Amino acid sequence: MKRRAILTVLLLVTALALIPSSSAQCPWQRDVTELQSACLCSYSIGRELSVQCDIVQWSKLIFALQKYATDTILDLLYVNNSTIGVLRNSIFSKLKVHSVQLSGCRIRSVANDAFAGQEQYLRNLNLQDNDLTEVPVESLRRLENLQLLDLTHNRIRSIPDNAFSTLTKLTTLKLSDNNVTLYPGALNGLDGSLKNLNLRGTRQRDVPLAIRGLKTLAFLDLSQNSIKELPGVGGIKTFEDLDSLTALNLERNVIQKLEEDSFFRDQEYANVLEFDDEFNPGFPDESDANLKRITSPGYRV
Ligand SMILES: *[C@@H]1O[C@H](CO)[C@@H](O)[C@H](O)[C@H]1NC(C)=O
Ligand SMILES: *[C@@H]1O[C@H](CO)[C@@H](O)[C@H](O)[C@H]1NC(C)=O
Ligand SMILES: *[C@@H]1O[C@H](CO)[C@@H](O)[C@H](O)[C@H]1NC(C)=O
Repeated sequence: MKRRAILTVLLLVTALALIPSSSAQCPWQRDVTELQSACLCSYSIGRELSVQCDIVQWSKLIFALQKYATDTILDLLYVNNSTIGVLRNSIFSKLKVHSVQLSGCRIRSVANDAFAGQEQYLRNLNLQDNDLTEVPVESLRRLENLQLLDLTHNRIRSIPDNAFSTLTKLTTLKLSDNNVTLYPGALNGLDGSLKNLNLRGTRQRDVPLAIRGLKTLAFLDLSQNSIKELPGVGGIKTFEDLDSLTALNLERNVIQKLEEDSFFRDQEYANVLEFDDEFNPGFPDESDANLKRITSPGYRV
């Protein structure tokens, strides 16, 4: 009896040990041994495939996907902490991918036709923690169904005018942790879709003019910048026409000057103000007040 119990325990332990390498579910089965330990695959109820890999050989992974996964919709292709370097032309050509996350992959450039074939499919593109020095504008142009673009923590220095102008379904744009200058027309074309803009830690000295007229913008994160003056330099009403704004994060800035009608054209939208440390009711006369966020309508500035 005792032996059987031990045997059962052993079998259980073996079975448990096998679970993490459930790569048997991956479409390449056991044919590609190099991917066995690096990738996990799963299927949604709708039989859409998710592939998640860490420290993987990118060329092997793409080769295997192009060979074994062309008949299935890829709900998610996630690769982290690997080396890609350059995203080459037509790299996803035979695939149908809804979400691509390639993070920590040392990507320095994206070829103009890298996403060829994904025009209808790609909804989320996350390229955070890479080495991009510019927005891969040309490669993005065709992605007319893109809803989320995450370029957090790259080395992007500037966003040119019309960088995203064809992405008319884009609702979320994350540019945080880049030392970036936004040209005044950088967000052209997003005024009917963009809801969530993250500019945390992007070295803004002023509220960027590019946000003007983003009528659908609901969440704006400008925290961890060097903004001194609100609403804008020389009193420019940068926040005018942000009709949908419900949350504004200004935590960790160096705000010294706050015009009385800083925020909204008519004061109906002026909202609750929170400060970094102690709430300072003396505002706006008190300087150095670090504004944290503005939430939910109902408070007059
Ligand atoms: C990627 O992997 C690194 C190292 O394993 C980890 O620190 C990081 O949080 C991961 N990033 C994402 C976005 O999963
Ligand atoms: C990523 O993977 C490398 C090995 O390729 C490893 O040395 C490193 O610790 C991992 N994590 C991060 C954050 O890079
Ligand atoms: C951003 O600028 C600061 C100061 O100029 C520098 O220390 C930091 O390394 C820069 N970061 C990047 C990603 O270029």
